[in-house]
Amino acid sequence: MEEGGRIIVVSNRGPVTFSRGESGEREHSRGAGGLVTALNAVVRRAENAVWIASAQSEEDLAVAKEPAPYEVEDLRIRLVEHDPKSYDLMYNVLANPLLWFVQHGLYDLPYSPALGEETRRAWEEGYVPVNRNFAEAVVETAAGEESPTVLLHDYQLYMAPLFVRERLGGDVFISLFVHIPWPEPDLWRVLPGYVREGVLESLLAADVVAFHTRRYARAFAETAAAVLGAEVGDGVVRYRGREVWVREYPISIDPEEFEELAGSEAVLEQEKYVKGLPGKLLLRVDRTDLSKNVVRGFAAYGRMLERHPEMKGEVTFLAQLQPSRTDVPEYAEYMEAVGRTAEEVNERHGTDSWRPVELFMEDNFPRSVAAYKNFDVLLVNAVRDGMNLVAKESAVINEKNGVLVLSENAGAHEELGEHALTVNPFDVDEQADAIHAALTMPEAERERRAKALRDTVKSNTIEDWVEAQIEDIESYRERHG
Ligand code: G6P
Repeated sequence: MEEGGRIIVVSNRGPVTFSRGESGEREHSRGAGGLVTALNAVVRRAENAVWIASAQSEEDLAVAKEPAPYEVEDLRIRLVEHDPKSYDLMYNVLANPLLWFVQHGLYDLPYSPALGEETRRAWEEGYVPVNRNFAEAVVETAAGEESPTVLLHDYQLYMAPLFVRERLGGDVFISLFVHIPWPEPDLWRVLPGYVREGVLESLLAADVVAFHTRRYARAFAETAAAVLGAEVGDGVVRYRGREVWVREYPISIDPEEFEELAGSEAVLEQEKYVKGLPGKLLLRVDRTDLSKNVVRGFAAYGRMLERHPEMKGEVTFLAQLQPSRTDVPEYAEYMEAVGRTAEEVNERHGTDSWRPVELFMEDNFPRSVAAYKNFDVLLVNAVRDGMNLVAKESAVINEKNGVLVLSENAGAHEELGEHALTVNPFDVDEQADAIHAALTMPEAERERRAKALRDTVKSNTIEDWVEAQIEDIESYRERHG
């Protein structure tokens, strides 16, 4: 890595959000989501790396105006100010829902999406200018640097590879990491032509396009062949005389970070609550995202209680859901549906002394970590999920030989599936059965599975994830000069 120039990491959501404290001094808090934690590992590894992200808060805007990257907690951060209207169109119309929904297969296709003028406007006046703005920040940060390495992250930035390439030419190494599923070609074709082709053309202006699983990497190559007629080889896509590597690097976690967190004051405090819940603990920890399949999860739990009334009072389902993207109408409606379904289960099965579901729609990370330590069963039943780090984070600190019930459509299934109980996320009965099997599994089997999960996660940590990418960047550079 030392041979290449400065590393520039770019993601829409930054590692920290700034605010003003009561006495007027600048404060910061950690950004949300697993992606941010992972990128921390990349940036901390390289000297001089700069992390570019969107300014979100008012104080972020003040930071964005500062000429040099802002240093905080060993990180150099450069925040980008976007035109608020463009950002709104990018975030709330084009990226979430459209791209996110297509890539997670969330549309009810006979009815939606209904593409039209609004879509085109969101693309032209939102997504494209926001991506140009990011590219501009990359160009400024790379000024005077020889052979910079630009690591772009996720579906908010699909047009950035092209815009950076246009400005910096062949000397710059560009990768784009897609942290969400890549769908089969026919699903990608739901997008209007200008998005469908525009995004692919841009991604193929990068040197490496990366995913969490083989399944997504293959689907991407197939999509590039089907939509653009690109030539596809083993891990390589050739297009317009360029060779683009299509790779998978399954993202992971820092086990030590979670082991430390597990013993922290805040977590120990929350553990009092978690341990006081009646019966065995069934847990889920997610953002309130449609892709997470929360409603079917509650329905499956309800069905399990119907089929096994002897389980009543013997289990509590704790759902820790962090509110997300609440300005997108589909998300707001989903939060209501989540609340309603939990209530239905409670009304139908609850008693005076037992509430079957404890639902929290708020951000409380210490409580989630406390629950990671204490669950008997973890439900990860996503419709589709890029990876799902909750499955990995909890495996390293769980103290109960907890069983993982895992969707076959979560990226984590490629690594963890054989030690979990696999479910089809659309099959409510199967999930009900899996929850019951997990709750009643003999201790010896629980122990064997939990150990295998823990060992698997520890055999591929976030350090390995970073290392694998760095090795490929070096090989790519050696090969392509
Ligand atoms: C997922 C996406 C990330 C995103 C995160 C939080 O993990 O892959 O790109 O940052 O969700 O979503 P938000 O819209 O709040 O940034």
